[in-house]
Amino acid sequence: MKNILETVKKDFTLDPQNWDNMRKLGHQMIDDMMNYLENISKEPVWRKIPDEAKYFLDQDIPKQPQEIEEIYDEFKQFILPYNKGNIHPRFFAWVQGTGTPFGMLAEMLAAGMNPNTGIGEHAAMYVDRQVVEWCKQMMNYPKAASGILLSGASMANVTALTVARNHQLKKNVRKEGLKTMTGQMLIYCSTETHSCLQKAAEVLGLGTDAIRKISVDEKYKINISELTQAIEKDMAAGNMPFCIVANAGTVNTGAIDPLDELIAVSKKYNLWLHVDGAFGALAKLVPEYAAPLKGIEQADSVAFDLHKWMYMPYEIGCVLIKNAEAHRNAFSVTPNYLMQEKRGLAGGPDAVNNYGLELSRGFKALKVWMCLKENGLEKYIELIRQNIAQAFYFGELVKMENDLELITPVTMNIVCYRYKKEEYNNEELNNLNKEILIQLQEQGIASPSSTILGNKFAIRLAITNHRTKKSDLELLIKETKKIGNKLSENWQ
Ligand SMILES: Cc1ncc(COP(=O)(O)O)c(C=O)c1O
Repeated sequence: MKNILETVKKDFTLDPQNWDNMRKLGHQMIDDMMNYLENISKEPVWRKIPDEAKYFLDQDIPKQPQEIEEIYDEFKQFILPYNKGNIHPRFFAWVQGTGTPFGMLAEMLAAGMNPNTGIGEHAAMYVDRQVVEWCKQMMNYPKAASGILLSGASMANVTALTVARNHQLKKNVRKEGLKTMTGQMLIYCSTETHSCLQKAAEVLGLGTDAIRKISVDEKYKINISELTQAIEKDMAAGNMPFCIVANAGTVNTGAIDPLDELIAVSKKYNLWLHVDGAFGALAKLVPEYAAPLKGIEQADSVAFDLHKWMYMPYEIGCVLIKNAEAHRNAFSVTPNYLMQEKRGLAGGPDAVNNYGLELSRGFKALKVWMCLKENGLEKYIELIRQNIAQAFYFGELVKMENDLELITPVTMNIVCYRYKKEEYNNEELNNLNKEILIQLQEQGIASPSSTILGNKFAIRLAITNHRTKKSDLELLIKETKKIGNKLSENWQ
């Protein structure tokens, strides 16, 4: 202890010895990143990571300090060129967002302030609260509803299901766990529902057996008659249906479940209705999609991402819950060291930790706050609408080509297509299209992803990209055909 006490004299800190150097490098970084974003369309969408970079990124923990300029050079050499590519205009894989330059700057400001936005009387708590209010306004949820900003829709979905489970069981689950459950608690959703709901059921202690996957119709929407039959059968067997998860935009095809009918079913059987609207919920703001998505307003909860179709930098999702009391009851806990006071630093709005699992939270609300002010909601609505129009346009381009096939009709921002040749059977086409997709990515042309629909391997585009232009889509058609034609010269 005596030795440790000696170090107090040294006043070590992680702040720079030379602030001017740090400032200069910071300015350089901003200039470089602005140039990078400004010229991103000229770059390949994706590059293979060379062995040299992988080797470099496999070194042991550094024990000694290094010059910041040198570290930045390493970043430019080994990291920056091998970006995932979701900031590129021709990135269409999975459902990923693009971010914006102003969003990047907002992230820098948030990191500079570095508040822990969980509890207390400080500005970030009010920005966080204001952004949740704006989310409620976008979804047309009442002011009395509650909500929390999270890392993404996976966390938003598990948060909603936790509230639903505790509220519907009407016993003290938090104290007694699931032993109070009579029969199995059951969740109903379509076979097209995202895998994060399965994980949610697993971590909630319900298990995957608790998910009743209901088949879909030819438009990939949940079959309502099969749903009601399943609920009734489960009830008759002494089980406890408690929740329906509706899709507002399925990950495979963008299908929207019939929300009005699901509202009626949930009311009839007294079930919690949760909407997974990871990307699709925001399409509600587009006039043409307002009607099919209006049902979100009647649901008990909705999960959606702002890093997808609001183009915010990663990560930010949101869950809204109508019954704020049930939400708080599921998570609030106040140990001695987290007490809130009426005044002082420990005052402020209700602690965010009362509405979710995380205690440590960054200032993720700031980028939303700044970007929404920069652009205004109307501009986002126009961009979402543009992405949907682009998906329909791409679908039309596919239909015009003899050697391309649209696997399922476009209904929102997702397009599933493939290259085809009459002489190939389905298995050969699947393998051929897999190779086409990989070549599109490896040649840095475009980054779609894939899925299987029926037994067909589909090249899949999800357009949540404010940088995409019509010409990017035309290029993808041309290149798909070119690679397909070349490969099929020697394909067996
Ligand atoms: C419909 C749907 N639900 C949930 C998720 C999971 O969202 P996140 O990746 O933000 O956790 C996704 C991701 O694409 C999705 O498309």
